[in-house]
Amino acid sequence: MPVRPDGAEDYDVPVLTDGTVVLRRLEERDVPQLARNCADPAAAEFTTVPLGYTEADARWYVEEFVPTAWRAGREYNWAVADARTDRLHGTVGLNALRGTTADVGLNFGPHARGTGTAEAACRLLLEHAFGTLGLTYAYWMAKVPNWASRKLAWRLGFRSPVRIDGFMEQRGTSVDAWILTLGAEDPRSPQAPWDGPPSPAAARPEHPGGPPRPAAPRP
Ligand SMILES: CC(C)(COP(=O)(O)OP(=O)(O)OC[C@H]1O[C@@H](n2cnc3c(N)ncnc32)[C@H](O)[C@@H]1OP(=O)(O)O)[C@@H](O)C(=O)NCCC(=O)NCCS
Repeated sequence: MPVRPDGAEDYDVPVLTDGTVVLRRLEERDVPQLARNCADPAAAEFTTVPLGYTEADARWYVEEFVPTAWRAGREYNWAVADARTDRLHGTVGLNALRGTTADVGLNFGPHARGTGTAEAACRLLLEHAFGTLGLTYAYWMAKVPNWASRKLAWRLGFRSPVRIDGFMEQRGTSVDAWILTLGAEDPRSPQAPWDGPPSPAAARPEHPGGPPRPAAPRP
């Protein structure tokens, strides 16, 4: 169980790394990049961050929201940084912790997308969730039509996608969501052929095979 029986969680954030990316505690130095990541149009469109995101929002998230939610056993959120330079790529978390399940939440800056970083970070997160915390299931919720998110989930082995109209709450509005499931014993690789649209880069005639994608390190 991720929550200790006495309910007195400490804000002890384990460091998880594969040598390329590191999952660590969010720090004050992350505030400027975190604010830029959350002010990005894709973050506004597909996540629940406030619109017009500022550094004050980021500071509140780092200093108040994340530690409080961690101590309460509600959410465990990590910074994802470059293991060499420590530059912030984005954030990943286990959200809505309940029993032995949780939802995966994530947001990466435009500079980190398409680099394999998000996939590597999620693999570290899942290994920790299943291997260390003892979760039995993780869920992935993506606002329709967030194909980038859905494809990453597919690549990680999340399966059985279902669409539930109005299931996701985004700034007080109900929006349609895809939900996918991954069990602790499931393979962390695609479980069915990709059934979404081709990636935009692959569709361009000058890049028939799409851009080269670095292989994500496996834990
Ligand atoms: C979701 C997110 C973490 C994915 O990161 P990523 O895996 O680095 O993202 P990519 O840009 O490589 O996109 C993933 C795949 O989806 C594909 N894709 C992206 N947009 C697409 C679209 N509109 N149609 C079809 N495929 C699309 C990409 O081409 C890529 O596939 P490929 O590797 O086979 O080429 C990142 O896009 C992000 O942080 N987005 C903003 C916030 C967000 O949506 N968070 C998730 C909430 S559930």
